[in-house]
Amino acid sequence: MKQTLGVCYYPEQWPEEMWAEDAARMKAAGLTWVRIGEFAWSRMEPKPGDLQLDWLDRAIDVLGSTGLKVILGTPTATPPRWMLDKHPDMLARGENGQLRKFGSRRHYCFSHAGYREECKRIATILGKRYGRSPHIHAWQIDNEYGCHDTAVSYSEHAEAGFRDWLAQRYQSTDALNRAWGNVFWSMEYADFDEIDMPNLTVTEANPAHRLDFQRYSSDQVVAFNKVQTDALRPLTDAPLVHNYMCRILSFDHFKVAADLDIASWDSYPLGYLLDRLGSTEEMKQRYARQGDPDAQPLHHDLYRAVGKGRMWVMEQQPGPVNWASWNPAPLPGMTRLWAWEAFAHGAEVVSYFRWRQAPFGQEQHHAGLLRPDSADAPALHAAKSVSEELEAFGPIETAQAPVVVLFDYDASWIYDIQPQGEDFSYFLLVLDTYRALRRAGLSIDIAPVDGDLSGYNLIMAPGLAVMSDALKARLAAHEGTVIIGPRAAAKTEHGAIPIPLPPSLPGLDVTVALTESVQPGSSRQLTDSGAFIKWAEDLEGRAETVITREDGVPALVRSGGLHYLGGWPDAEGFDRIIRHACTEAGLAYHRLPEGFRLRDTKTHRFGFNYAPEPVTWNGETLQPGDVRWWPLDAQD
Ligand code: GAL
Repeated sequence: MKQTLGVCYYPEQWPEEMWAEDAARMKAAGLTWVRIGEFAWSRMEPKPGDLQLDWLDRAIDVLGSTGLKVILGTPTATPPRWMLDKHPDMLARGENGQLRKFGSRRHYCFSHAGYREECKRIATILGKRYGRSPHIHAWQIDNEYGCHDTAVSYSEHAEAGFRDWLAQRYQSTDALNRAWGNVFWSMEYADFDEIDMPNLTVTEANPAHRLDFQRYSSDQVVAFNKVQTDALRPLTDAPLVHNYMCRILSFDHFKVAADLDIASWDSYPLGYLLDRLGSTEEMKQRYARQGDPDAQPLHHDLYRAVGKGRMWVMEQQPGPVNWASWNPAPLPGMTRLWAWEAFAHGAEVVSYFRWRQAPFGQEQHHAGLLRPDSADAPALHAAKSVSEELEAFGPIETAQAPVVVLFDYDASWIYDIQPQGEDFSYFLLVLDTYRALRRAGLSIDIAPVDGDLSGYNLIMAPGLAVMSDALKARLAAHEGTVIIGPRAAAKTEHGAIPIPLPPSLPGLDVTVALTESVQPGSSRQLTDSGAFIKWAEDLEGRAETVITREDGVPALVRSGGLHYLGGWPDAEGFDRIIRHACTEAGLAYHRLPEGFRLRDTKTHRFGFNYAPEPVTWNGETLQPGDVRWWPLDAQD
């Protein structure tokens, strides 16, 4: 499959006279796709039942007949104002119980049945009208589930739905009381209707209660999405897509994706570096105009797994954005680098957000491919040169990586609920693991806990809170190197401490006898080099020790290829562990220049320079923001 570029466009925001020229310029820039419609409900249906789709017919026609492939969005992330008169109780409630009002977007509660019906209705109307249109080549369902902290709502509809969900899951309050450990603090229930949502409690609510509410909320996102995919499926053969985000963990993306064909995501490297990734001040300075060298790739790999191999970037940062704490312009070359990196990680499409910068509304300071006065913005030229390079390169083929990192949303919820140390974040533990692998020049896949693990030289399972016996057995039997931990297999499915104590792995005699969180500025030193930060465990047992702490406690233990890691390593510690793993697994370990990264496809090795200084690799010098590729057979 040939990789292509696209752009997000809002015909409803511009006079109709501009559409044809816009379309022609998109085509001339080498763009293939145009995404429209996802926020246009107030124009599609200005009053309840008053459908006004003629303009959309014409917009699709202008774009499509210019040779662009249209991705049509269902407009359900922006219910118009009249929807509130029809469904006054459809707004979400925040954890503090306050209503989240009309006046921006995503102002709906996933549990509201009436709003779900409205979404089904509009999706059906659009599906009937455009499902067989030759111009519609994909659908986007809603927009960015969970954005603006919207996956979890504490409305009365959520409460009723939660009780019902619990009753179905546990069948009896006795079973629920046992599963949650409600004898603790006399929290026992005699009826499902007595169970509230876990907000506004005096001090922290029972973690099992919170975990189930989180799981319930995630299930509502899945059900909400399915209402629309069920409506559209019979009406179209075009793929159904959702655009996920950076570090949104509030719903299980693997479950949502079960009803979709492609996972796409929205990549804004500069905003994320400042506001999403817990970056150090040093990182924020060094990579301010390039973005974190590992965060986009991590999401590409994650969403490739979520999309069962099919991944797009639906929105790509084109210049300064408007929403981060500071909004610098990307270094020249970065919009090209980001696109090539996405392709090297398996993206089929990279679509820029947005076509023309809007001079009005919340995002008026957000760059586009055009300036507000329609003159070319810098990213338009970058897009054009990427499209020419793509043409020359031909199809890019993804290969299975030698390394896989297991990823689980449930683990993130469990550790958000009981982090035990203020800076313990499952996501950041995975990111640190991923970074260490990337620093060593490795290409990485990500897989869900029930994913196919065959053929991997190295499997990493950091922080995987709940591990089924079946998964433990699979990992223990894996031919290759496996590193489990820290804080893995540490919880039961109800978020309790299992007995026998963790990790209880077949064939590996190790027990986590004590866990501690380590505050910033402190560490548990490893002998020779490196340290544990944030989290450390006292390991007991007869397993062979590979790395020891200075205080004599085993840090990394093993039996054959199966390892358990008893802490959160700093960068030095991680580098040691990955070096050991590479030796064990027979993988080449590279020491890449700082900020330089590699990624292998089936045929090529790509190199990306995120560093603000030139780097030399393979005898070639790459300027900041530069990308190179080499045929794989000439690489070690
Ligand atoms: C995304 C969103 C777009 C736009 C963009 C701005 O999160 O899907 O609609 O708001 O951010 O960067």
